[in-house]
Amino acid sequence: MWGGRFAEGPSAVMREINASIPFDKRLWQQDIAGSKAHVAMLAAQGIVSAEDARTIDAGLDAVAADYARDGVPENLALEDIHMVTENALAEKIGAVAGRLHTARSRNDQVATDFKLWVRDAIDEVDAGLAALQKALLDRAHDHADSVMPGFTHLQSAQPVTLGHHLMAYYEMIARDRGRFADARARLNWCPLGAAALAGTGFPIDREATAQALGFDEPTRNSLDSVSDRDFALEYLTAATQCALHLSRLAEEFVIWASQPFGFVALSDQWSTGSSIMPQKRNPDAAELVRGHAGRIAGCMTSLMMTMKGLPLAYSKDMQDDKPPVFEAHDLIGLAIAAMTGMVESASFRTDRMRALAESGFATATDLADWLVREAGLPFREAHHVTGRVVALAEQEGVTLDRLTLDQLKSVDTRIDERVFEVLSVDASVASRMSFGGTAPERVRAAIAEARKNQEPHR
Ligand code: ARG
Repeated sequence: MWGGRFAEGPSAVMREINASIPFDKRLWQQDIAGSKAHVAMLAAQGIVSAEDARTIDAGLDAVAADYARDGVPENLALEDIHMVTENALAEKIGAVAGRLHTARSRNDQVATDFKLWVRDAIDEVDAGLAALQKALLDRAHDHADSVMPGFTHLQSAQPVTLGHHLMAYYEMIARDRGRFADARARLNWCPLGAAALAGTGFPIDREATAQALGFDEPTRNSLDSVSDRDFALEYLTAATQCALHLSRLAEEFVIWASQPFGFVALSDQWSTGSSIMPQKRNPDAAELVRGHAGRIAGCMTSLMMTMKGLPLAYSKDMQDDKPPVFEAHDLIGLAIAAMTGMVESASFRTDRMRALAESGFATATDLADWLVREAGLPFREAHHVTGRVVALAEQEGVTLDRLTLDQLKSVDTRIDERVFEVLSVDASVASRMSFGGTAPERVRAAIAEARKNQEPHR
């Protein structure tokens, strides 16, 4: 490849450490698209002849057809997707292939290819997240009235509805989509034409290539264009945050599917059995979503460490940018699809949820609030009175709404029969009408609002 200057070939280890083709072959479609845009621009600018450009363009199509049919050949001696493709082009059209690399370098070429790839990756993730949101909305709508215990410290705190709980994840995913959309907007500047680092003396038209490749504009500084990978890091940080959300939802499924909770029965499609314990139905997919979040965060850390302290402009360390992005993308795609499937197909045990909501004295706050509102007690005193009522119910082995009025009055005479209106879990959730609260009416309104906004971010 460097025949003019080098008399000897590289050592076998040099060849191996240097080669990125085993992984960057995933960029082949972007590499072809970038080259086609580049050669069209070179012709329009009179830098190569129209005839040569036509030959090169047709040759690139032929190479792409070969790749699509047979895969990309992994020739380590040719290093990377750019050289493998140029070589394949030369095999098709001969020496004219050598004109393609005029006024560009692999440095701006790889930055362009990788941006195109990450942009597609963002669009794929966004579509997956939209599907997950739809699944959450549909199930939340089914369960806008289904009462379950709401937890703090994983202790029964106040009753909520399952619909409200699922909508919490809808909101998280909405912010994740926003982060991916932000990353996409900042990414969409075209580095092609920055050449090796300094720009080029050829009269290129960077606006034209940027436009042909769907970028908003050409990047403004050639050194920056070839040397930053913040767009890939923004993808990875957005993916990591999203994976953390998915992991929390997955963990809910793990807990809910456990026998002591029994809030959800996972469908056969989303669970596995045990080789020795026939009674088991394991939430493996949920556990793997939880596990993948760690690996995705690892990918993000990996690229951060690669980029830390690199001087301008391109350094070969940056070739290591791709494996963590590819890995994270594959993992997050699986995690999103798995969570979507689990949400769509889970059968929620609403009877069990209700029973647990009723058993945990979850309406204690409603009693305290009633004492403040109806009996005029300061909240701290109401809290104390309620604590004594809970102790009595515990001692009697009944839920709060099963205590008799006499029993309640034995704790505090200011309690009267109207209190029973607030002690049931249904009354409790129905009363939480504050904006963003768990009242079924509120949850239904939130779902309706969300359905209106369920368009893709672009
Ligand atoms: N395979 C290389 C990469 O991914 C392409 C850029 C090579 N540039 C260079 N100056 N050696 O980073």
